[in-house]
Amino acid sequence: MKKLLIFTLFATLIYACSQSGSENGSEKSSSESTTAAPSADGEKIYKTYCVTCHGLYGDMGASGAFNLQVSTLPVEERINVITNGRKAMTPFKELLSEDKIKAVAEYTMTLKK
Ligand code: HEC
Repeated sequence: MKKLLIFTLFATLIYACSQSGSENGSEKSSSESTTAAPSADGEKIYKTYCVTCHGLYGDMGASGAFNLQVSTLPVEERINVITNGRKAMTPFKELLSEDKIKAVAEYTMTLKK
């Protein structure tokens, strides 16, 4: 009888441990948020779509890309350039939402020296 009791205790313990373990593992998937800060989002977009021409710091100048470190263009104008393109620069209105264009335009303001 005593043996059975100990066995049951052990079984319960092991069961409890494995339960809490799997709970921790399945927590993560629900923490995704769509309301990320615009600056962080803008940086990500810039690194995805813009570095090929403008470079990581805005001064690479591939395909005659404007040096964003010296650009004095206000953010509204940048939104316009990014949306509709200009000369060698491709328009992004098909690729990015208005919000994303705004976020990346704001990010380019931070490249200024
Ligand atoms: C295919 C290469 C290319 C890509 C990709 C590109 N650009 Fe450009 N960008 C250019 C060129 C070339 C110019 C200069 C256009 C001109 O001379 O009128 C320019 C100009 C600009 C300007 C205007 C600067 C000023 O002061 O006149 C901004 C702002 C800008 N780009 C932002 C971006 C952002 C943000 C992205 C990513 C979403 C991006 N560009 C992607 C090539 C590119």
